[in-house]
Amino acid sequence: MKTINVGMVGYKFMGKAHSNALSRVGMFFDCPAQINKAVICGRDEEGVKKAAAKFGWQAYETKWQNLVSREDIDVIDITAPSDAHKAIAIAAAQNGKHIFCEKPLALNLDDAREMLAEARKAGIKHQIGFNYRFAPAVRLMKDIIDSGKIGTIRHLRASYLQDFIIDPEFPLVWRLRKEVCGSGSLGDLGAHFIDLARYLAGDFKSVTGMQKTFIKSRPLVENMTGLSASAREDAARGEVNVDDATAFVAEFQNGALGVFEATRFAQGHKNDLSIEINGDKGSLKFVFERMNEVQYFSADDEEGLQGFRLIQATEGVHPYMYAWWPAGHVIGYEHTFVHEMYEFMSAIVSGKAASPDFADGVECSRVIEAVELSSQRRAAVDIDSL
Ligand SMILES: NC(=O)c1ccc[n+]([C@@H]2O[C@H](COP(=O)([O-])OP(=O)(O)OC[C@H]3O[C@@H](n4cnc5c(N)ncnc54)[C@H](O)[C@@H]3O)[C@@H](O)[C@H]2O)c1
Repeated sequence: MKTINVGMVGYKFMGKAHSNALSRVGMFFDCPAQINKAVICGRDEEGVKKAAAKFGWQAYETKWQNLVSREDIDVIDITAPSDAHKAIAIAAAQNGKHIFCEKPLALNLDDAREMLAEARKAGIKHQIGFNYRFAPAVRLMKDIIDSGKIGTIRHLRASYLQDFIIDPEFPLVWRLRKEVCGSGSLGDLGAHFIDLARYLAGDFKSVTGMQKTFIKSRPLVENMTGLSASAREDAARGEVNVDDATAFVAEFQNGALGVFEATRFAQGHKNDLSIEINGDKGSLKFVFERMNEVQYFSADDEEGLQGFRLIQATEGVHPYMYAWWPAGHVIGYEHTFVHEMYEFMSAIVSGKAASPDFADGVECSRVIEAVELSSQRRAAVDIDSL
């Protein structure tokens, strides 16, 4: 069996999620390759050494430039923030490495396009971390839509609500600095529902958006883990230069209408990603915090007995579930990463295109940039104009 040697950049939130996924793939799926967690890379030697030991990596590097040129590495997995994606991905492509890159693909649309062009030129496999596509319930929705059961799609509404920065004293983490993340709630949270919308309903035609930054300055961050962070009491303050919240409406190429909202100011909502699709024959709804379930309404059901049914997408017939537990033994957030890594490794071995790939990353960045422009201009923006 082929061995795929992975080199991963970054070792915190996504670094942990990817390390776990790379370890689990071969344990649960008939993966056509042996995945070797070869080298993990981070700038702080003490930190990366500890992460290597804890997450089970064989070796570590402190410079990604060394990692991408190592002969013994086949795949570069990028889990650093957006400002690092482009340089690492382009160098990796030029060294002939396959690339898995976290979302959003880049700081902006131009950079995303450059990454795609280099990846195509190098002929390597590339995939982007839109992990919510890999929830079995989302795959089931896609199957139901493709089968024609909900008919012509008329509406799609999606929201991604969090509440972790409501406190004005929450520190200025990298997610609030445009030069590191490119975009705020829209690029961080909205990127996921933009991708899900494209996956389930097709491409966007035009958008009309509005963005808001409620808290304009925050104390400089001292420590950060996951979405938690702290600052010193006497910390200086810095400017928040991204959106705290974004709302937009959209028209799809197929004529459907979309309504979207991304915010980190929705008190009580922790990781509340929801998407609902209404067709002329039925409706579907997915709520990530109840990720094993799909709500499905069919207008074909018997009159008088119609209503939303709750499907638990945990049976062997449901996508990916054959590999896990008996029906009703639910799965969680981390499984979406296992599924995306399984697909990526399978694409490398089979030679088929990986999906979603950098082209999907570019399309997502196109919508993000169109919403930003629309918000600045206070007017609709056609996606094809970008
Ligand atoms: N798919 C998802 O659901 C999901 C969830 C969270 C974050 N993300 C994405 O993953 C990426 C990372 O987010 P995170 O939450 O893991 O961030 P994080 O702050 O928890 O971890 C980032 C890691 O990258 C390292 N890093 C930063 N710049 C670097 C550089 N120049 N060279 C080497 N290492 C560098 C940091 O030291 C850290 O180890 C972002 O693009 C983010 O949008 C995706």
